[in-house]
Amino acid sequence: MDTFQMGIGASFSMLLILKMPRSGFSGRIPSSLCKISFLQVLQLDGNQFTGSILDNLYKCSYLEILDVSDNHLSCRIPRSMGNMSSLQVLDLSRNNIFGSLPSHFNPSSLVLVYLSYNRLQGSIKNAFYGCSKLITLDLSHNFLTGTIPEWICSLSWLGYLFLNHNNLEGEIPKHLCNLYQLRWIELSHNNFSGHIVPCLRCTGGSSVIDPEYEGEQQALVFSTKWMTYSYQGNVLMLFSGIDLSHNKLSGEIPPEIGALSMIQALNLSHNCLIGPIPSTFSNLSEIESLDLSCNNLDEKIPPQLTQLNSLAVFSVAHNDLFGSTPKRVAQFATFDESAILSFVDCHYQRVAMQQYHHHHC
Ligand SMILES: *[C@@H]1O[C@H](CO)[C@@H](O)[C@H](O)[C@H]1NC(C)=O
Ligand SMILES: *[C@@H]1O[C@H](CO)[C@@H](O)[C@H](O)[C@H]1NC(C)=O
Ligand SMILES: *[C@@H]1O[C@H](CO)[C@@H](O)[C@H](O)[C@H]1NC(C)=O
Ligand SMILES: *[C@@H]1O[C@H](CO)[C@@H](O)[C@H](O)[C@H]1NC(C)=O
Repeated sequence: MDTFQMGIGASFSMLLILKMPRSGFSGRIPSSLCKISFLQVLQLDGNQFTGSILDNLYKCSYLEILDVSDNHLSCRIPRSMGNMSSLQVLDLSRNNIFGSLPSHFNPSSLVLVYLSYNRLQGSIKNAFYGCSKLITLDLSHNFLTGTIPEWICSLSWLGYLFLNHNNLEGEIPKHLCNLYQLRWIELSHNNFSGHIVPCLRCTGGSSVIDPEYEGEQQALVFSTKWMTYSYQGNVLMLFSGIDLSHNKLSGEIPPEIGALSMIQALNLSHNCLIGPIPSTFSNLSEIESLDLSCNNLDEKIPPQLTQLNSLAVFSVAHNDLFGSTPKRVAQFATFDESAILSFVDCHYQRVAMQQYHHHHC
């Protein structure tokens, strides 16, 4: 739209906030935007912008919130973004951003980073090293390779780590246990191997930013230099869970996982786990969804699991479990046994499953 191009000019040089989400704009994001010397908030999500983010982005040195998600931007992450010292929210998700993450991409003020659903490649390297205020890091749905870097444990406020749907490998690092604020870990659909670390934490601790409620919607409230600004985050900030599904994790499920009494969802399905379902799982008092299907778990389902009053989804299908299902009392009375605790399926599928495990594990 031409009006957008024309509207940005010297006369707007004191503009602090430019919010034009889902407004049908196309073409390139005008580089004259960075002539607006005090621009703090730029939200252009849900348009049809193409080309690069902004060539002269480093001139936007007061920018605190940059949301150009859900466009058709096709470019690398500009290196100059690394020295945007005020940047707190970066949302480039749902574009065609390609190339590798800049090796020292560390605007130290970053709080929320969303780079999901792009075409990023290469390893995570040192990107975000030193972003000590980071609460959300979403790199999911890309083509990232390599391992989870050790420095991630220095991000002591990290609450939401989404690395799912990439090509990451190696072990889930023990140093994740140092992250006391971690509430939601999504590592599914990668090539992680080794054992599940016993001390994975989901404390549900309070974060530095208070989520503010507006009905069902939640927003993060930032106090910037001149104003208070609320940003509508795109994840449910109070949800807590662990999804390690669809990897090559082996060994037994550590009983310590049962101590994560805050988690609402645990998905360990589609791995190579063996041994029993720990009876400590009866302490997962908030759990609503528990998926352990498609592993090599054996023994009985611990009868104590009937204590889980919040459980709405429970699947242990395609394992080597035997014996009777837990008494159909409490929450378990509501489950459709043939669909969810499907032993019949397990036996039928045994040959197929052995092939699955042969190829998968
Ligand atoms: C930021 O980085 C860009 C490109 O890397 C550089 O041209 C610019 O001078 C840098 N700005 C500051 C303030 O360091
Ligand atoms: C997964 O990792 C193993 C080594 O641990 C490797 O042999 C295999 O090719 C990887 N698979 C994929 C899909 O990356
Ligand atoms: C668990 O993960 C698998 C694979 O990622 C997925 O297909 C399944 O729907 C998940 N289970 C639940 C209960 O969300
Ligand atoms: C559940 O937690 C309580 C208190 O933390 C502990 O005493 C008990 O042993 C746990 N139960 C199981 C089955 O681990």
